[in-house]
Amino acid sequence: MVARRSSVDRRPRLAIFAASRAEAHQVADHYPPMHAESDMTKPNARPTRAEFSSGPCAKRPGWSLEALSGAALGRSHRSGIGKSRLGEVIARSRAILGLPADYRLGIVPGSDTGAFEMAMWSLLGARGVDLLAWESFGAAWVTDAVKQLKLPDVRKLDADYGHLPDLSAVDPARDVVFTWNGTTSGVRVANGDWIATDREGLTLCDATSAVFAMDIPWDRIDVATWSWQKVLGGEAAHGMLVLSPRAVARLESHQPPWPMPKVFRLTKGGKLVDGIFAGETINTPSLLATEDALDGLRWAESVGGLPGLIARSEANLRTIAEWVAESDWAGFLAEVPATRSSTSICLKIVDPWFLALDDGARKSVPKRLAKLLEDEGVAFDINGYRDAPPGLRIWGGATVETADVAALLPWLDWAYAAIKADA
Ligand SMILES: Cc1ncc(COP(=O)(O)O)c(C=O)c1O
Repeated sequence: MVARRSSVDRRPRLAIFAASRAEAHQVADHYPPMHAESDMTKPNARPTRAEFSSGPCAKRPGWSLEALSGAALGRSHRSGIGKSRLGEVIARSRAILGLPADYRLGIVPGSDTGAFEMAMWSLLGARGVDLLAWESFGAAWVTDAVKQLKLPDVRKLDADYGHLPDLSAVDPARDVVFTWNGTTSGVRVANGDWIATDREGLTLCDATSAVFAMDIPWDRIDVATWSWQKVLGGEAAHGMLVLSPRAVARLESHQPPWPMPKVFRLTKGGKLVDGIFAGETINTPSLLATEDALDGLRWAESVGGLPGLIARSEANLRTIAEWVAESDWAGFLAEVPATRSSTSICLKIVDPWFLALDDGARKSVPKRLAKLLEDEGVAFDINGYRDAPPGLRIWGGATVETADVAALLPWLDWAYAAIKADA
């Protein structure tokens, strides 16, 4: 029995598992479908853009290399033009996100990881810290706090893939480290209501797959970080670091006991290095990536700024949710609907046939499904994260067109049924 909404091409398996798209077409032409009208027919419509990777993510619609033709290439990042481009990234990001006027925003080395580790290394240790983790990126920050920084007073609040930890257990007297959207489990915090506005501790939030697609309540956030290659589809290179006035006060009053590498240094002589938050980067940035970040930000403005970006991402989630509701083989990895990510949309397989397979076979199903769709040219990079339960992960951030998500869904049914039929 194939899944209810699934459709499978009844041509020989050779066609279905052909090594390349071209080969698949050749074989397919040779063996016309036996039951063209059946639910096992290969879908006709293909997504216009097949990029559904969760990072680097799809470029904005209509992007081409031409968009970078104005880049200040070969110029110093400390020149007027270099500094103004970097400053423009900061200014446009601030405006789109509605950052409070007294919050700082800087461009730092090392993508999101660089930005977040810089914050952890610079700020933690002044008081106890609650470390929240519910998937692999959050777990990596826990490891760093415990094994690298060796912080003496930590509480680990964690949960398995698909769930959130008990957010009500977070102590506002302590610092808290968390990831707004768990990219590898597709579980996000529904809102920031669990964070006290009169907290004594600082909140350090890895917001890389949330920012520009989700509403972040800045009054509850002291540190936020992200990279350029996620929701706005920029080129990977640099990290963005937000600091609240209370985070700045901590930086200027707390001297960590460990050595601080130059790329992490946010203060000099006990004072914040203001230039970092005005486009004077710690070390040399890519002005090509900077131009691309600007292109993404201008596009974000053209689709209605933050509300427009959120609406685009939510429409992608809704489209998948409607399909999941009808599917008898796919379900959300995130158990609670309000915690379902609209960017890294993670699906598990709930079909009893699949659940009865052994671990190795279970892992291989989404892998083969992703490969099949990659060979068809309809979906790239949709296998779930390697440490997550076997499943699919479809990026639904703002640069992905809802029509492309809709066009992908019949292909998922087709590919799943093809693999099941081949088992
Ligand atoms: C939640 C989260 N944190 C950190 C990272 C690492 O980011 P980067 O590769 O930009 O350093 C990622 C990448 O996907 C992520 O999704």
